[in-house]
Amino acid sequence: APPRATGSNSQSAWAALREEAAHCTRCHLYEHATQTVFGEGPVDAALMLVGEQPGDQEDLAGRPFIGPAGQVLDRALAEAGIDRGKAYLTNAVKHFKFEQRGKRRIHAKPDAGEISACRWWIEQERLIVRPQVTIALGATAARSLLGRTVTISRERGSPIDLPDGGGEAWITVHPSFLLRIPEEARKAQEYEAFVADLKAAAARLR
Ligand code: URA
Repeated sequence: APPRATGSNSQSAWAALREEAAHCTRCHLYEHATQTVFGEGPVDAALMLVGEQPGDQEDLAGRPFIGPAGQVLDRALAEAGIDRGKAYLTNAVKHFKFEQRGKRRIHAKPDAGEISACRWWIEQERLIVRPQVTIALGATAARSLLGRTVTISRERGSPIDLPDGGGEAWITVHPSFLLRIPEEARKAQEYEAFVADLKAAAARLR
């Protein structure tokens, strides 16, 4: 693996990358989104979390995981003993994809072409941050990281080695999935399993 960029070096590389991403036209999603929502967090973070794509609130604010899914994530991270401020948070797709229904913008799932067009950015982020452990939140993040279709139920709970010194990946559910479970007992159970996945991944950090 190439040497890790360090100190102010990687900070400035990251800032340049973020600026470049602000003008991204690699896929058509930039046409309707408000702005690129780039990753955030320390560029030397040992832990990276990858989501799907920004939601409505993230699109407006320009920051990842600040809406309803972000609130679930914050609570689960705290319960798992993970300091959000010490992790690098990003998304597989960096523009909000939605369908307009009246005044509401309804989340639409990014397709394989959009995920693959956006993979360039996350690869650059990963080269700068070089996390030991990466947690993929949901199938889109897992697909972006592993380059293949992932069944979460089958692959959660144990580490998956990433090629080229990319550390290890842990696959878990997306916090939005938890928000959509109508039945309270099942929701609580799935939430506990999510926290357990986060804990198991964080326990690998040296
Ligand atoms: N869902 C995601 O996957 N990412 C965000 O940033 C917000 C919601």
